[in-house]
Amino acid sequence: MDDILLEISEKVREIPQVSPNTMKILNLIADPEYSVMELKKLIELDVSLATKCLKLVNSAAFGLRTPVETMDRAVSYLGSKPIMNMIINSDMDSVFDPQLVGYQAENGDLWAHSLRTAIGAKLFADLTDNYELSDLAYTAGLLHDIGKIIIAQFLNVSPEILQNKYEVGKETDFLEVETELLKTDHTEVGQMMALRWGLPEALQIVIRFHHKPDKAPLKYRKLCILVHLGDLFAALGGYSTGVDSLAYRLNPLAKQYLKFKYSVLEKLICDIDVEYSKAYELIADEKPQ
Ligand SMILES: [Fe+2]
Ligand SMILES: [Fe+2]
Repeated sequence: MDDILLEISEKVREIPQVSPNTMKILNLIADPEYSVMELKKLIELDVSLATKCLKLVNSAAFGLRTPVETMDRAVSYLGSKPIMNMIINSDMDSVFDPQLVGYQAENGDLWAHSLRTAIGAKLFADLTDNYELSDLAYTAGLLHDIGKIIIAQFLNVSPEILQNKYEVGKETDFLEVETELLKTDHTEVGQMMALRWGLPEALQIVIRFHHKPDKAPLKYRKLCILVHLGDLFAALGGYSTGVDSLAYRLNPLAKQYLKFKYSVLEKLICDIDVEYSKAYELIADEKPQ
């Protein structure tokens, strides 16, 4: 194996483990038939997370008139999305929010891109009547690009490489630059990280195939398409992670999901903006501006 691939594998082995309770919550959300009560039970096992849920539901940003004092009511009011934001924002924070130097991104770009992808994936799930995949698409969107955290430490993209890739009229995907330079890409490395953490199979597959949903196993193909579209719309909205801006190829399989009137897609872009602002406001205390 090349030295660089060995070094990348070593970095994957060094990433901190995710807490067992977070793993239980991620596994629960991966089941399309999970119940809110089961989620509540797992949250109650984590004092810090339970406290954060109560703080969040009683915050001015959430805007309830009467205080919420029980976890039953807190989880019902919150729903799974802000809870997943909190879990991934806090429990995985040590690995999730680096500067992505190799991508020439800013602090917080990966989080903003991932949050927008999650919201877009969920909205596409609802728009295409795949409600049962809504929560899972959201969580998968939050985690889809984790491989960039490690790839960023090895990427060194010169202006010449970028100029060559971004020639006028040339359709490109930044994934190919990663492969050219490193013989691997953030989807392969992301899957290695997901395996090391023991993430549910559905999340591992999305992390591996979100750029090429047509290559995903049939069982998870629809989920991969939803995250692919969320990812594309995050990029179209100007939320990429540095040098990969506007270098994203729409997968042919996903085109059938875009057969809506322009006005419907335009509204979806506005909805992503609105949902993003709301979600960001709720976690603003804990994230860099
Ligand atoms: Fe990606
Ligand atoms: Fe992405």
